[in-house]
Amino acid sequence: MTGPLSGRAESAAPLRARQPGSRILGTGHYLPSNVVTNRDLEKVMDTSDEWISSRTGITQRHIAAPDEASSDMATKAAQRALEAAGIAATDLDLIIVGTISPDMPMPSTAMFVQRNLGARKDCPGFDLSAACAGFIYGLSIADAYVRSGIYKHVLVVGVELLSRIVNWEDRTSCVLFGDGAGAVVLGPAKNDGRGVLSTHIYADGSMIESLCIPGGGSRTPFSAEVLAKKQHLVHMVGTEVFKYAVKGLSASVLTALEANNMAPGDIDWLIPHQANVRILDGVQHRTGIPKERIFINIADTANTSSASVPIALDQAVRAGKIQPGQALVFCALGGGIAWGSALVRW
Ligand code: ACO
Repeated sequence: MTGPLSGRAESAAPLRARQPGSRILGTGHYLPSNVVTNRDLEKVMDTSDEWISSRTGITQRHIAAPDEASSDMATKAAQRALEAAGIAATDLDLIIVGTISPDMPMPSTAMFVQRNLGARKDCPGFDLSAACAGFIYGLSIADAYVRSGIYKHVLVVGVELLSRIVNWEDRTSCVLFGDGAGAVVLGPAKNDGRGVLSTHIYADGSMIESLCIPGGGSRTPFSAEVLAKKQHLVHMVGTEVFKYAVKGLSASVLTALEANNMAPGDIDWLIPHQANVRILDGVQHRTGIPKERIFINIADTANTSSASVPIALDQAVRAGKIQPGQALVFCALGGGIAWGSALVRW
């Protein structure tokens, strides 16, 4: 089998000459202080801690305060990443925000982040819609800009306020998600072998209906009917997404390894999208990366979509788990279906 789900050489082929490249200068994350446990959910819907934790590995999620918007969370994560990078907001050349829960349909959440951070008023920015793969897509774009020399410092944020866009009457999906933000600042690599070594992004539009927000856009504009049918909220066919996720995440990790002539044993940390521990069991099985090298925080955060990888990355960095020179693989998959991976020498 070849193609993006195969993890074979053909999909690794587009890798181009990569010098001097980009590196991650600093990371940050933000999780709202309000924690809602599975036991809390038991009191308001027909579910159980046992069902949620055994099916997904989730025991709690962080939920934003009523007056918090996505850009507020993104700003806090970005401030921490800038501080860790030792970069002033005014030194940013581009702001990319991966999100499916923007403050407003227009303008971009990136503009709110620019204003909140006090970045230059001419600093470009945009939102990127690739659902749970939003951070990987953003990293891929940021890497290309830095690698090409067009921009020096790029802020990449993944942020989601999913508690406002999930259907709280659909127990099969609402229990899976949480709110949060993660960010990295990218800058030029130093030609010492460290930095972003590869990125691979993919999408399969034949799977749109398996995970989407069907109403409220130009196809089915917002209306009383959309509201009544809750079409403006996340719609998911969980089992279809589950199967695709195991295949897609595993293939993208194997592609990253092959593109860099590396074996599973060469990887120090896999920092995956946190959707379901059973999905990660499948990824472990298919890729051969041992479970102790997979960073998993889903019990605490649930699925924060595009924020999931950068939150996990920052937690691992701040916990001292990630050391200079280590090889990291990031991977994520979600609505679209869009997915991808990145391999970073820390
Ligand atoms: N509490 C209690 N029971 C529930 C709940 C709940 N919250 N939700 C569903 N059930 C019931 C169902 O009604 C069903 O009951 P039935 O057998 O009487 O009909 C039963 O549990 C089994 O339902 P399934 O959907 O078959 O459960 P499954 O084991 O497949 O797990 C899950 C469902 C967890 C959603 C799984 O399919 C999954 O994780 N899919 C991936 C989805 C995902 O992560 N999406 C996020 C975005 S994409 C991504 O991030 C990868």
